Amino acid sequence: MKLAERIGTLGESSAPLYQQMQDALRQAIASQALKPQEALPPERDIATEFGVSRITVRKALDGLVGDGLLTRKQGAGTFVAGRVEKQFSKLTSFSEDMASRGRTPRSEWIQQSVGAVNSDESLTLGLSPGSRVYRFHRIRFADEQPMALEYSTIPGFGLPGLETVGSSLYEALYAAGHRPVRALQRLRAVLFNAEQAQLLGVEAGAPGLFIERRGFLEDGRAIEMTHSWYRGDAYDFVAELNALA
Ligand code: GLP
Repeated sequence: MKLAERIGTLGESSAPLYQQMQDALRQAIASQALKPQEALPPERDIATEFGVSRITVRKALDGLVGDGLLTRKQGAGTFVAGRVEKQFSKLTSFSEDMASRGRTPRSEWIQQSVGAVNSDESLTLGLSPGSRVYRFHRIRFADEQPMALEYSTIPGFGLPGLETVGSSLYEALYAAGHRPVRALQRLRAVLFNAEQAQLLGVEAGAPGLFIERRGFLEDGRAIEMTHSWYRGDAYDFVAELNALA
């Protein structure tokens, strides 16, 4: 494979070469000119093809490995990452997770509504019966690939209105001064039922991850309850664990 045919040539900007190569690879991965799991040519071949040093190639690839866009397999070379890796300990939004990996986040609405809290929501969010809540039900995509179903409930005080939520719930909460600063999350393995499977474009019975996130504000009030069903084949959860000091 000639890499230049897929990512274009370098040298049109004044940025360092390794950065130009990184940008070109990043774009090719985002546009899927380079497909998930595809192997890159060996580093020395890339260096020869682009007329740069191997150190430049290595530096370019290292940065993308660090971002989770490429993976290295011992003895086998460098590959475009197949799954989106999610740092489990960071309180980020779906949109941020996808964008930081060069994927384009997108959602399709299943439902958005405003109504009175139900008993599950009132327990989880600590709201009194009759309180007003917003509900946002979405299918979340990375580029054209369905990744997850998300059902979020936000207390009425959290947002000025239903229509303030565009493509990102966390952006809308941030704008309202109510983005969560802390969250509790639990997850478990599930098998998708027929309806979920159909929405996510997988077979009924396919494996997935169910995640419940409860987000809190600085003052301790709960601001979010989200139930998410992630496709098991699309997501890797990564957690950095530190020994007790
Ligand atoms: C993640 C979390 C959800 C959160 C969502 C916000 O997917 N699991 O709990 O509601 O991000 O994402 P966005 O701001 O893109 O709507």
